Amino acid sequence: MKTILYYYTGTGNSLWTARLIAAELGDATLCPMFLMHGDAMADAEAVGLVFPVHMWGVPSLVMNFLKKIKKDPDRYYFAFAVNAGQVSRTLIQLHNHMATLSLKLSTGIDIVLPSNYIPWGGPGPAEKLDKLYLTAREKIKRVAPGIAQRQTAPMEKGPLWQRIVFTALYKLTFPMISKMDGDFWVDEKCNACGICEKTCPVGNIVMTAERPTWLHHCEQCLACIQWCPKEAIQYGKKTPKYERYHHPEVTLKDIIGQARIPERSSVRQP
Ligand SMILES: Cc1cc2nc3c(=O)[nH]c(=O)nc-3n(C[C@H](O)[C@H](O)[C@H](O)COP(=O)(O)O)c2cc1C
Repeated sequence: MKTILYYYTGTGNSLWTARLIAAELGDATLCPMFLMHGDAMADAEAVGLVFPVHMWGVPSLVMNFLKKIKKDPDRYYFAFAVNAGQVSRTLIQLHNHMATLSLKLSTGIDIVLPSNYIPWGGPGPAEKLDKLYLTAREKIKRVAPGIAQRQTAPMEKGPLWQRIVFTALYKLTFPMISKMDGDFWVDEKCNACGICEKTCPVGNIVMTAERPTWLHHCEQCLACIQWCPKEAIQYGKKTPKYERYHHPEVTLKDIIGQARIPERSSVRQP
């Protein structure tokens, strides 16, 4: 195996992106970041990181993943930051952070796909989404040959105003993310199916008294709210009226088929 693509996804956009990159590169394996085993990348020449932009920066799950990664400065590292139009300084942040770990991020690509940030609204009209999928597909095709040739390129970034304003906001919100699950609630449509528990990448949900309970070590990937088959999970006041979103080519099975549920013994109880 030449390339290993580590991905993190809430609603499938990053998984879909990773699949397309793998198809372009050939001889590539996909692995969810939270299932990373040190030896999975033993013979990989190149390591790709594919993840969503959260709060204008790198999600903590990705930062934690990097702590565990087998450090090999000779390997070729590349990244795809999947976002909804505001990549801001995410890839520069990742590049700099990896440098502190003696890892060289050779190229960082900005991929724009529909927004899954439901507290601010639904994903938008179908024609707009189709355009985003097409543009992203074309971009992946365009950049893949450079990655295959192990090229180095500057990290892609948002405009200066975005980097200034949103980097400040990232610093402000980042420490609060794990506790933001206090705003989740379930309405009467909840039938205690437990799918929310199964989609959580970090074991932050347990079913208690036939209702999900969030344990305050949330990543805010929003998989629970977006994949709930009854649309019974809400966040704040406005989500009952907002349309749910997940990538149309990614299924619930793809998300929960990754054995995301941690061992019971490792789930922290409330
Ligand atoms: C908590 C959270 C924060 C987000 N912050 C940003 C952001 O700062 N900039 C942006 O462009 N998109 C942002 N988004 C949107 C996602 O990055 C985007 O929808 C991405 O494609 C989702 O990928 P996934 O389906 O692999 O999880 C955010 C989404 C969530 C859930």
